[in-house]
Amino acid sequence: MPELAAPELTVHESRPAPRERWPDSTLSLLRDPYRWISRRAATHGSPVFEARIMGERTACVTGPEAAGMFYGSGHLTRKGALPKPILWLLQDEGSVTVLDGMPHAARKAMFLSLMTPPRLQRFDELFAEEWQRAVNAWKQKDAIVLDDAVRTVVCRTACRWAGVPLDGDAEAERRGADMMAMFDGAGAIGRRRLLAWQARRRTEAWLGGLARDVRAGDLTVDPQSAFAVVAAHRDHDGTPLSNEIVMTEMVNLIRPTVAVARYITFAALALHANPAERRLLRRATPRPSVDPAALAPETAVDDAADPVWRFVQEVRRTAPFFPLLGGRATEPLTWHGHQFRQGQRVLIDLYGTNHDPVAWPEPDRFDPDRFLGWQGDANRLIPQGAGDHASDHRCPGEWLTIATMKTAIRSLATEIDYAVASQDLELSMRRIPTRPTTGLVIRAVRDAD
Ligand code: HEM
Repeated sequence: MPELAAPELTVHESRPAPRERWPDSTLSLLRDPYRWISRRAATHGSPVFEARIMGERTACVTGPEAAGMFYGSGHLTRKGALPKPILWLLQDEGSVTVLDGMPHAARKAMFLSLMTPPRLQRFDELFAEEWQRAVNAWKQKDAIVLDDAVRTVVCRTACRWAGVPLDGDAEAERRGADMMAMFDGAGAIGRRRLLAWQARRRTEAWLGGLARDVRAGDLTVDPQSAFAVVAAHRDHDGTPLSNEIVMTEMVNLIRPTVAVARYITFAALALHANPAERRLLRRATPRPSVDPAALAPETAVDDAADPVWRFVQEVRRTAPFFPLLGGRATEPLTWHGHQFRQGQRVLIDLYGTNHDPVAWPEPDRFDPDRFLGWQGDANRLIPQGAGDHASDHRCPGEWLTIATMKTAIRSLATEIDYAVASQDLELSMRRIPTRPTTGLVIRAVRDAD
């Protein structure tokens, strides 16, 4: 049985991983999706254990070393790892996520070509403009639901940036709500899932129609725009993408971009809970959100001098966004003595790894200064995946996420004042992804004193 070749992996003597003694652990996982793997791993005293999840023997892994294996080994695929309804709501069949090897590398290169410093700078300029426009409107209102309001701002920005036409504010609001519903309902069952499916169907009809028009030359888009790049993309073997895949990848570009609004909500919650941090940000010298010299999130050492960057990273580390991800072993492999069978499902614990007590002392304390002197580590801070952006499935939107959060946080902390309405701010740790039930209501938005 071949062992992992990746040099950073410690291969131990072969021994079976501890096993959960319950016949099926699905309900336990769903009751505590963010913490279940790390808690069970701590009980077992092992970063890998097996449990039966949705009727299948599944290996659960946690911690930075596990992230290095999950992303760096080249022995795990996303094909067949996600239940179909979730795959359909998120990345979908035929998308970059379910590709491996050369086909993946070519499609991923397309996404990464959209994330160059000038393109990110353009996104940031548009976001700042849309944000200011929204702030002016918020000042006229008694109260706003921040999560909903920001998703419209990000949706308008993403569509302008990508070259996707929108018919005014009402459409931006509708499309933004649909984009958010898709990822918001992916981990749900019942009504939320149904709403997510309806949102997906509407989005596919909309972007599918536009993709056909762009392809047929009936809709002219800026040749530099993301839409033009995706529509013209050829796969590794020179085959043009089908209209359907153009639509799928455009959804994959815009939906997660709109989801950055949720991180901005988490950032606003963190500002509210940590007034001393807000005061510190107010005193900080403003720096640009996109610094072309320091763009790699895992190695952006220079950025650590910027308190806004440190705040963003701490929000990304602590926010309960995606709890875990699934993969399947493409061939038998051994890690920490445990043999993963070919085809075995493996779950990597994202939230638990970001709260690993060895990697992050006092992991539940919100402390942006833990990033002072951050030397970069591709497998320790993994809210958007680990490893390498180009050769693995790590999120290509990480730079855009960080830049957008920086611009929003700078405004929320230093440019405007507002009151947080009295409301229940408790986050349910059973909801995937979670959010305050109120969406975070803020009142009396005005320019900062
Ligand atoms: C809201 C913030 C975001 C979060 C929490 C997030 C999370 C993630 C995670 C965890 C993965 C890895 C999936 C895996 O390993 O299977 C991923 C992949 C991906 N993300 Fe993001 N993402 C975010 C923002 C974005 C943005 C702004 C974009 C737009 C460019 C984007 C586009 C993608 C794509 C296309 C993939 C698939 C990459 C691949 O399979 O190689 N994401 N994201």
